[in-house]
Amino acid sequence: MSRIIPAIAALLAASLFLAAGQAEARNPLRHRPYMMYGLPAPYAGKVNPLPADAANIAAGGALYREHCVSCHGASGRGDGEAGRDLNPPPADIAFIIGRPVATDEFLFWTISEGGEPLKTDMPVFKDVLSEKERWQVILYLGAGFPTQPAE
Ligand code: HEC
Repeated sequence: MSRIIPAIAALLAASLFLAAGQAEARNPLRHRPYMMYGLPAPYAGKVNPLPADAANIAAGGALYREHCVSCHGASGRGDGEAGRDLNPPPADIAFIIGRPVATDEFLFWTISEGGEPLKTDMPVFKDVLSEKERWQVILYLGAGFPTQPAE
């Protein structure tokens, strides 16, 4: 028993380390500049004005399936078909949700300005989705990518 527990702890630590390494590879670009320099106006300090209710999450889900799933995959792991050959690859959004980097302002900026500031293939959505639609998508991400609209 006394030997098993440290062994389990070591295994657990190793798998956590590996998981973090993999996610790091899929989320390499935006986190550091955001953490170090913050965001430009008009994104700095933006907060989602919509309630996380079933209607907004369902609307966000429909938008996610239309505009994002091809690259980011159904559960947000960055494993969509259209993202296979992209460099850098589509981010693992599921990994960042609930972590400190995934603030409203960070997500809103990323989706609005896309890969333009960083020269990546993440599309620019500010002229494709209204502000409200962008916030609805963000609520869907925050809800953990439910497959069925929340009741
Ligand atoms: C053509 C493929 C493609 C589509 C479609 C796409 N993305 Fe992305 N996305 C990327 C790539 C590539 C990255 C990684 C590079 C970057 O951060 O710019 C990325 C990064 C992100 C990030 C940054 C996550 C992080 O941890 O840094 C978020 C959030 C995101 N996408 C959300 C979305 C949402 C929401 C949609 C739909 C409205 C969407 N993306 C559509 C390719 C795509």
